[in-house]
Amino acid sequence: MPDGQADLRRNTTEDDITESVLRRFAGTSDPRLRQIMLSLIKHLHAFVKDVALTEAEWFKAIEILTDAGKMCSDKRQEFILFSDALGVSMVVDLLDHRKPDGATESTVFGPFHRLGAPELPPGGNMAHRDTEGVPTLVSGRVVDMAGKPIAGALLDVWQTQTNGLYDAQDENPDDLHMRGKFRTDSEGRYLIRTVRPVHYPIPSDGPVGQMLKATGGHPYRPAHIHFVVSAEGCEPVTTHIFDRDDPYLASDAVFAVKDSLICDFVQHGEPDATARDLGVTGPYLTASFDFRLAPATTELGTVIDAAARLAALGRQEKRTAC
Ligand SMILES: [Fe+2]
Repeated sequence: MPDGQADLRRNTTEDDITESVLRRFAGTSDPRLRQIMLSLIKHLHAFVKDVALTEAEWFKAIEILTDAGKMCSDKRQEFILFSDALGVSMVVDLLDHRKPDGATESTVFGPFHRLGAPELPPGGNMAHRDTEGVPTLVSGRVVDMAGKPIAGALLDVWQTQTNGLYDAQDENPDDLHMRGKFRTDSEGRYLIRTVRPVHYPIPSDGPVGQMLKATGGHPYRPAHIHFVVSAEGCEPVTTHIFDRDDPYLASDAVFAVKDSLICDFVQHGEPDATARDLGVTGPYLTASFDFRLAPATTELGTVIDAAARLAALGRQEKRTAC
């Protein structure tokens, strides 16, 4: 018998199986990995025992996860959808992105960010191909916690087209559309031309859609625009702004709405000088939202785009605030 094996019991029962598995993983040398693995095992076993999972149900779960994996590509991320629809993404967001009072709150990143969004000038139109939507100017400032404007902050912005689809879900999935990167001017101001965001269903032609259907849920997300806002020396914020008039604000399929992120999309008849300069010729909307960034507490405190942020999260380390 190998050394150290003498205490392993062979007559495993449903009462002691969890302890046996925990013992097997208890020697994990990385302390954080050990903590995560032991807790995962405890909770997984408790869940299976709680619902007395049958083998058929267990196999169905394997099939669901397999189907989810097969649906994933560079344009579709079914596992993020699962995480979002089960509220896990928001729990992680709430725990990992605690911010000081007054800082712009974060919310889910979602599965639809893509690389390669063009950097556009102030007022640049990120909806140039969307002829159905109501022209909308989104403006505001990026400021620090003292309200001081931040020049050169980067806003990485994306939203659906008026048909409710992200570019990757539409006819020409390789074409980038409804995406742009904008920088603030010397007074911290930004200006984006787009179209009014619409509510839309998260993709429901896969396992997540089947789950929502089977459980009586709906797949809709309230109208919103995605942002990752970053600036040198500040903590980046991944967030949305939501349309106050949207009927799904109280039942977002991914639980991402926070009151502080809701803003008014104000209707106008004739374009004013600013709107005219940006090519708006008829009725349009304006929305105003200021982003207030907290000082950096991690190595991510720099000007980044959303993809760089995700990549950097893998090597996140705490550092002294600026
Ligand atoms: Fe979205």
